[in-house]
Amino acid sequence: MKKIRFGLVGCGKIAACNHVPEVAALGNRRAEIVALVDRVKGKALAFAEKHQLTSAQICKSYEELLASDIDAVIIATPNIYHCPQTIEALQAGKHVLVEKPMAGTVAEADKMINLAIRKKLVLQVNQSLRFTPLYVQIARRVAAGAIGRPLHARCLRASANSPDVAWSPGATWFVQKRYEGSLVGDIAVHMADFLQCAFGPVRRVHAVTRNWAHEVEDNVTAIFDFANGATGVLQLSWTFPQGEGALELYGDEGKLCTNKEGFLITYKDSSKPPLQVRAADCKALPDSHAAFVSRIAANAMDAWVAGREALALCEAIRAANKTGAAARPKNRARR
Ligand SMILES: NC(=O)c1ccc[n+]([C@@H]2O[C@H](COP(=O)([O-])OP(=O)(O)OC[C@H]3O[C@@H](n4cnc5c(N)ncnc54)[C@H](O)[C@@H]3O)[C@@H](O)[C@H]2O)c1
Repeated sequence: MKKIRFGLVGCGKIAACNHVPEVAALGNRRAEIVALVDRVKGKALAFAEKHQLTSAQICKSYEELLASDIDAVIIATPNIYHCPQTIEALQAGKHVLVEKPMAGTVAEADKMINLAIRKKLVLQVNQSLRFTPLYVQIARRVAAGAIGRPLHARCLRASANSPDVAWSPGATWFVQKRYEGSLVGDIAVHMADFLQCAFGPVRRVHAVTRNWAHEVEDNVTAIFDFANGATGVLQLSWTFPQGEGALELYGDEGKLCTNKEGFLITYKDSSKPPLQVRAADCKALPDSHAAFVSRIAANAMDAWVAGREALALCEAIRAANKTGAAARPKNRARR
């Protein structure tokens, strides 16, 4: 397999926590970050020194990065840049691994996808839960009938702070409209993706959002009507008095509930003993970067699907809140 030479745009928190370690884990013979750029002067150099990317080219502009000797770009900038930077990278002939949410609208996402297909380049969205062993294991167990026919999902993800406080201190773009920050693009895009992954496509969404402490949505309550007849409730907040989390999936034969160790399945048939699965025992999977590199080798033209469908759900959440009526996610036809 050809070695993939990456350019990284955006040297912030997710680049440090996810992109650098996962590229490093592939080994220098398979992948390497060879060029970096950040809008803040000096940040790319400091980042390269901190993460031992000392032979990487420090670029002064995105154009310089795209002109350097790279095969693919990792886009880890604030949300507003995902679409334009992806389009520029694809036009320059580079494969793209873009952070979630892949774009601001499904119309933008479709432009990105259509261009990637036309250029025969891989476009993948970093929908992290698709690569998290615990979540993948839950979705697989549900698909294999562990809880019987899916009936209902309840997902609560609440914190006491927006990401500019705890996750990436000072990154105020997360709570600004002009950078397309919001709880919808931050967490709904992950959990909506996961719920669709576990229960299948959503046909209608009802939603109410609030902007209690920010100019962007900081509370989201959405009701999902799944195509298979199941229902779901997604409850998200950045303004709870303290962090709370729950994921409960109900079927006609059992219930799956996440807990501190991993997840627990209990059965309607009380003669069946409960099954506790530990996160630590969930089989390791190729991570997002390993998948991306394999997809480049396989010339996979559908690596964008999870990101595109998650974005369609986010757009439906916003539309449903705006109109007060149910909204249908604009899913792109499945191949
Ligand atoms: N996949 C996940 O689980 C996950 C988790 C957190 C964040 N994210 C996503 O990653 C992206 C970045 O988030 P973060 O937490 O790293 O934010 P951050 O603010 O910590 O980092 C963003 C970096 O981009 C730089 N930047 C801003 N505008 C730029 C531009 N036009 N060109 C070049 N650099 C620019 C900033 O200076 C900063 O260094 C967001 O889209 C976010 O939604 C994904």
